[in-house]
Amino acid sequence: MRVVMPPLTVDPPLHARYRAVYNPFFTAARVQQMAVRARALTIELIEKLRPRGECDFVEDFAHIMPVVMFLGIVDLPLDRREEFIEHGVGFVCAQDQVGRDRNLAPILAYLRQVIDERYENPGEDLLSRIAAWRDNPRFGGEDEVIGMALLIFLGGIDTVASLMSFVAWHLAEHPEHRRRLREEPDIIPRASEEYIRRFGLSNTGRLITEDVERKGVRMKADEMIMVLLGASASTSANIPIRSRSISTVCQSDSQ
Ligand code: HEM
Repeated sequence: MRVVMPPLTVDPPLHARYRAVYNPFFTAARVQQMAVRARALTIELIEKLRPRGECDFVEDFAHIMPVVMFLGIVDLPLDRREEFIEHGVGFVCAQDQVGRDRNLAPILAYLRQVIDERYENPGEDLLSRIAAWRDNPRFGGEDEVIGMALLIFLGGIDTVASLMSFVAWHLAEHPEHRRRLREEPDIIPRASEEYIRRFGLSNTGRLITEDVERKGVRMKADEMIMVLLGASASTSANIPIRSRSISTVCQSDSQ
């Protein structure tokens, strides 16, 4: 099953047109409002976990906090959270196309149904805005609408959860970093940005358009390359780069 997820990998000027669909949901003011909600939800979850004195970070936090935030942005039912995670994570962790398709089919079927409903009865949410793309003069086909919905679904269900889990793992293994963050809380915003650069999992392929040589590596037109973004935040001299596919719930498979 082949899916396109605009605006990913779309070149300008078309890129900006798809991107305009999402933009109103990620303005500075909107993000500020989301930050307030995210903070309140984080405190609530931690207060619930505190009496236990321990937790499974992935199950008890990473698969709840960002997913609840995301489901609010797209106005999808919270009680289907586990099912969304099962298929979303199943898709990104799949080792082959059969596994990817098996998980993708129910996601696409569900998103198609929601998009049709929101097209008929639009709300204030991002999926309603994506559904309205059908009426845009630049609308190029149903694949675009479903692909845009799938892109935010995957971003919301797995990407943040994976990032948070790897940051938590890193902090668990580096008590000196935890101590520094406690003693110098002013560096937390900068540290967060650095961790996002280092532990963000998303890597999208790129198509080489003309022959080029960089640092002794020759790349030819029409070849696909994968740029490991997390590697750009580390120095290969002292940080080993894991080349395998990793995701929060793939851990047991990939270790
Ligand atoms: C920590 C979590 C996340 C990370 C590390 C991350 C990372 C990325 C990266 C690296 C790209 C660019 C890919 C490329 O051009 O090849 C991207 C694009 C995108 N992501 Fe995320 N993402 C995260 C969370 C999310 C969430 C939660 C959403 C939506 C709810 C989202 C929606 C998008 C969209 C719409 C694009 C396309 C943007 C464009 O091409 O202009 N992402 N993300």
